[in-house]
Amino acid sequence: MNDAMHQACDFVLFGAKGDLAMRKLFPALFQLDKAKLLNPESKIIGVARADWDQAAFVEAVEATLVRFLEPGEMSSEDWQRFSARLDYVQVDMTSADDFKKIKAKLDDSRIMVNYLATPPAVFGDICKNLSSAELINETTRIVLEKPIGHDLASSKVINDTVAQYFNENRIYRIDHYLGKDTVQNLIALRFANNLFGSQWNNSAIDHVQITVSETVGLEGRWSYYDKVGQMRDMVQNHLLQLLCMVAMNPPSKLDADSIRDEKVRILKALHPINSSNVTKRAVRGQYTAGSIGGQAVVGYGEEEGSAATKSNTETFVSLRVNVDNWRWAGVPFYLRTGKRMPQKMTEIVVVYKNNPHFIFDPKQRDIVNNRLVIRLQPDEGIRLHVVTKQLGMHQGMDLQNRALNLDFSESDPNQRTPDAYERLLLESMVGDQSLFVRRDEIEASWAWCDELIQAWKDVGDEVKPYNAGTWGPIGSIALIERDGRSWHE
Ligand code: BG6
Repeated sequence: MNDAMHQACDFVLFGAKGDLAMRKLFPALFQLDKAKLLNPESKIIGVARADWDQAAFVEAVEATLVRFLEPGEMSSEDWQRFSARLDYVQVDMTSADDFKKIKAKLDDSRIMVNYLATPPAVFGDICKNLSSAELINETTRIVLEKPIGHDLASSKVINDTVAQYFNENRIYRIDHYLGKDTVQNLIALRFANNLFGSQWNNSAIDHVQITVSETVGLEGRWSYYDKVGQMRDMVQNHLLQLLCMVAMNPPSKLDADSIRDEKVRILKALHPINSSNVTKRAVRGQYTAGSIGGQAVVGYGEEEGSAATKSNTETFVSLRVNVDNWRWAGVPFYLRTGKRMPQKMTEIVVVYKNNPHFIFDPKQRDIVNNRLVIRLQPDEGIRLHVVTKQLGMHQGMDLQNRALNLDFSESDPNQRTPDAYERLLLESMVGDQSLFVRRDEIEASWAWCDELIQAWKDVGDEVKPYNAGTWGPIGSIALIERDGRSWHE
């Protein structure tokens, strides 16, 4: 998390023609350049199998920027400066010879940052060929996109392969949620405010809710997604990372390993969900036809590319998770995430305990409830619900629950909220690993998820249907209401 100008680098983007590169990475690199955050000497070298020459590559990047940037965001001067950094190499990832072509583009005075926006199946070939072309030295970095494996065993295979060529302190594993501005703000909120820091435990907090809902369905990804499901696609990485940011102990310093040490402690403290408790603590759902924002949408089984036989893959998960340590004993974390929900939103809600003795009119009991709502997207901001007396002359004391509102976009309307990838690409060039996932984090998280996924198999769990455009199956509501609580709406 260091904004000082970094050393110049050769940013080598493998998978330069892919969807991620075109939709997210080139626009993010452009924004960094426009904000003068890229070293003036840094180069961006696209690598792909596509039979493009330099002109065709530059044209494709320009087209994607025009498509994905806001109108008017790119002046011709911006484009001239950015396009001067671009270079392209056509490479078959399995051909050692092709990697020599990359070497010709590099400069020893620049650090090489390799960004693998490719399927993990080719990570091994890329590392091996970088090595045989003598492109790896003690400063070379590698950035890996998810998924890092399908389970603990396969993630170990990928990590072992990469580790043959790169030390852990040069491996940057992406979880793009960690690049979101408000996720980083959690660190400031928790560790710079004694008001919250001193109350961040089981004596003050009743429970925590984390919701990551999406309105999109599969968008042509059915054959990939059907083998993965929402548990692996979203919970194993994004939701558990958010849980760690909320639950971890204060790191002793703000450096990468201090933060990651604390996150690993939380992952290792997650109470197992296995066949003895899975039916009470976890709910899986799959959307059926419904409507979102007034538009009719098809069910999972009718999506483009879906198989004829009924799939048991979940598009929704809700969980009741416990963290077995002193700080969180007795405080459940309720997690839910799904596709085709009513709203795209990521929100963390910290619900505080009520006072031990209630002196007001008992009918007002439900109003008295402090909540801290941290909105990650959209409308990033923080709301603290507090109870006050209603204004005016009444008999007795009429209470009301009002919110202290901190809206990040309103507080500085001239600042745009950077996309998560902008922050992560910059940090990979700066060489700060704080916002990247360490190997032991990935493995602890897979170990916990594997046990849960296995439990679903063991008990023969069938996905529960929910209509597209709703908040998931009824079982998800029951999961929290059984405990006398309800989802924050
Ligand atoms: C990705 C998942 O990691 O995150 C997608 O693979 C999901 O399925 C996406 O749609 C959500 O990211 P965001 O930033 O739009 O919330």
